[in-house]
Formats: sequence, structure tokens, C-alpha cells
Amino acid sequence: MDPSFKRLKGFADMFGEQSAVFAFLETTARTVFANYEYEELRAPILEPTELFRRSIGAVTDVVQKEMFTFEDVKGRSLSMRPEATAGVLRAYLEAGRDKDSAISRFFSIGPMFRRERPQKGRLRQFHQINCECLGSDSPYIDAELICMLVEFLKRAGLKNLQLQLNSLGCRECRGKYLEELKKFLSSRDQDAFCEDCRTRSVSNPLRVLDCKQVNCRELIADAPRILDYNCRACETHFAKTLELLKLEGLNFRVNHNLVRGLDYYCRTTFEVVSDEIGAQTAVAGGGRYDGLTRQLGGGDIPGAGFACGMERLALLAEKNLKISARPIFYLACPDEENMNRAFAITQELRKSGVTGAMNYKPASFKKLMREAARNGARYALILGADEATSASISIKDMDKGDQISISARNLKEKLIELLAKKPE
Ligand code: HAM
Repeated sequence: MDPSFKRLKGFADMFGEQSAVFAFLETTARTVFANYEYEELRAPILEPTELFRRSIGAVTDVVQKEMFTFEDVKGRSLSMRPEATAGVLRAYLEAGRDKDSAISRFFSIGPMFRRERPQKGRLRQFHQINCECLGSDSPYIDAELICMLVEFLKRAGLKNLQLQLNSLGCRECRGKYLEELKKFLSSRDQDAFCEDCRTRSVSNPLRVLDCKQVNCRELIADAPRILDYNCRACETHFAKTLELLKLEGLNFRVNHNLVRGLDYYCRTTFEVVSDEIGAQTAVAGGGRYDGLTRQLGGGDIPGAGFACGMERLALLAEKNLKISARPIFYLACPDEENMNRAFAITQELRKSGVTGAMNYKPASFKKLMREAARNGARYALILGADEATSASISIKDMDKGDQISISARNLKEKLIELLAKKPE
């Protein structure tokens, strides 16, 4: 291959085994979300840059440094979506779904793009399973979303995860808190902060709270806590959310430094973190964003949601799950004159749901057995000259090496019988 076509940094090719884990996660998500009446929304990958700037926030890392942005032929600035929420809200408003008095629940699954430094569990094209609930400011919705997320993670077989929550308050009470936080940050030795936090303490002080640098963490250890500044209504909302989570038997930790990387959040914010990918890596995150629709030129609609990073879930799932993509048969046909018959048998098995393949080129028996082993099939089906004359077929167990010969007519039933006796 011409080396200039090499895969871009931070972009991945996913072959069978990893795709099977993704497919499993998607199926599990669809099953769980259907029970909560979430409808699937497939929104475009490309949107006007301004949509992301206005919703995610102009001074966030995502918008300032990480978007893949370009001008189209008409000179319009377009960006590949770095997250799903903005596009879902745009679609909801554009379809007039905000005129509907009912609550709207959406889920979306697909690729997102952020120009971050690639590392384990961090890619430039990654995939999210995303849920949004629009039209209600009830804490029951916050609890419903979190319960649904936890149920999905549990059904996907993911263990050792921790749910963390915080409340960022509303515009009014957060204003007071930000003043206090700014005062606190400016009272610290500025040179001791990392370069990013020195800038953030002026442009976006909340983000200093979740800096991962040890020095910065020590500096903010006794920073004022946002929950102490929540107004009465925000306090009640958060208390009710926690009460409902307890009622559902969920374990969680209130993390006073959980602020999230996108600017649209208010009130409840949450993350699900794992220690198995790196120190406290978030596998999912979300929260409430009441009034974000107004920033996009719509009415004042309350909303909340979350997104899971599929690559991160897959890293954990691979440890806990054994997803078999092992084919059932490989049909070995050494001679050209029996090839059509072998093709008909292969097709018949495939059509009745038995997974397998065959050689289409004549080859020696030894070579075909090597191909069957490389293919990973559980059984090699042999249609040689002897089998062709006696209308039979030989079945070789590729793990044990045993071989039996049966009438070709009974092949499907025999395979089903063997598989039932030898569960993987
Ligand atoms: P986020 O926290 O930016 O939130 O991303 C959600 C999840 O996507 C993260 O917890 C992580 O698992 C995954 N993720 C983010 N960046 C990367 C990356 N570069 N590589 C691999 N995985 C990544 C949002 O995107 C919000 N839109 C979530 C939301 C929905 N809030 C309300 N509704």
C-alpha cells in the first residue's frame, strides 16, 4: 500500500472481534433504552460550527482546540460533531418537537470527533451511546437517566465502576459561587498552577476544579464547594435526585470537584468512572442542561442526558465478556468437480442460520485443513471424492480431532446435535 494512505493518528480500524463487542454494547443499549421509551435519533455528523460554539461554550477545550473544522465551498464554517447533544437539540427544535407538550426521549449511537492527544481509551474518532430527555425539569428525570445508565452498564456485564455526582446549581447561584471561587484561586500562588489552570482561573474557573495535575489538586484542596452555594430550589432538586437513587439501591459518591468539560450544564452532573483504564477515567458522563435550547434560538426547554464512550466500555467489556465470533464450519472441498455441490451445501447451512465458509479453489486436503484451522471453525466439513460417491460428508471436530462420516442429507441435524452437546 502507498504509505501516504496510512490510517490517521487517533483513528482506528475495527475488525471482527472488536466490532462484535461494539455490536453487543449497541444491542444491550437498545434493549434497555426501549424499556424506558427512548426513541432512536440519527442526526448528521457534520453541523455548522456555530451550533457547537454556542452550546458547548466558546471557551471550552473542545471548541477552542479539539474540533475538526473546515470551510465548505460557500465559505461556511462546518465541524465534525465532537459530541451528540447539540445536534440532537438542533434536530428536536428543527422538527418542531418542542411544540409537543410531551416529554421527548432520544438515544443516538455513532462516531464523534475530537482532536485530542491519542492514548489508551482516547481517540480522535470515538463512538458514543448518547441519551437525551427534553421537556421536563423534574429530578425524577435525572434519576431515571442515571438508573437507565447503570442498568445498561450492568447488563453489559461491566463491573468495578463508580457513580459520582455533583450539582452545579443554576445561573443565579452559580454566579455567586464563581465569584468566591475566583477570589479563592487568585489568593493562591499562581506560579504553582499548571499553565492551563493559570488561564482557566480567569476564563473558566470551574475547570480548575477537575485538573488532574497533582500540584493543582493540592492547591484547590480547600476550595469553596459549589453545593454550599446552591440556592434552595437547586438544593431541593439535588436532594430529591439522591433520594431517588438511594430508593433504587444505587451506590454513589458526591464529588465536589466534578464540573464536566462542556459549559452547558446546570444542577445535576454525573460521571461513571473506572480505575481499570487509567486513573479515574470517565466511561460515561452527563447532567442537566435546562435552557440550552434557548441558546440555540428555541424556547426555554429543560433537558438532561448522558453519553458513554464505547471504546472505553469495550476496553472493560473485553475483560469481562467472552464474545465468540467463532464460525461453526469450514467446508473443505479438494476437487473442482465437487465444488458446485459444496457451494450448495454451504449455502443451505448459511440460510438455515449456521455460520461458515468454504474454499472456492481446489487444494490439497492438508492445505484445506490448515485453512479450516486458521479460519477458527469448530468443525471442518469434508467433501472429498469418497464422500461425493457415497453422498456422505465427513465432520471433523477441529478441537478434538475426531472425525465421523454421515449421510449428507442429515448434515444440518447432525451439526445442531453436536453443537448442543458441545457448548462453547
Ligand atoms: P463527555 O464527558 O465529553 O460528555 O463525553 C462522554 C464520554 O465520551 C466520556 O465519558 C468518555 O467515555 C467518552 N469520550 C470523550 N472523549 C473521548 C475520546 N477522545 N476518546 C474516547 N472516548 C471519549 C459529552 O459528550 C456530553 N455530550 C454528554 C451528555 C449528553 N451530556 C448531556 N447529554
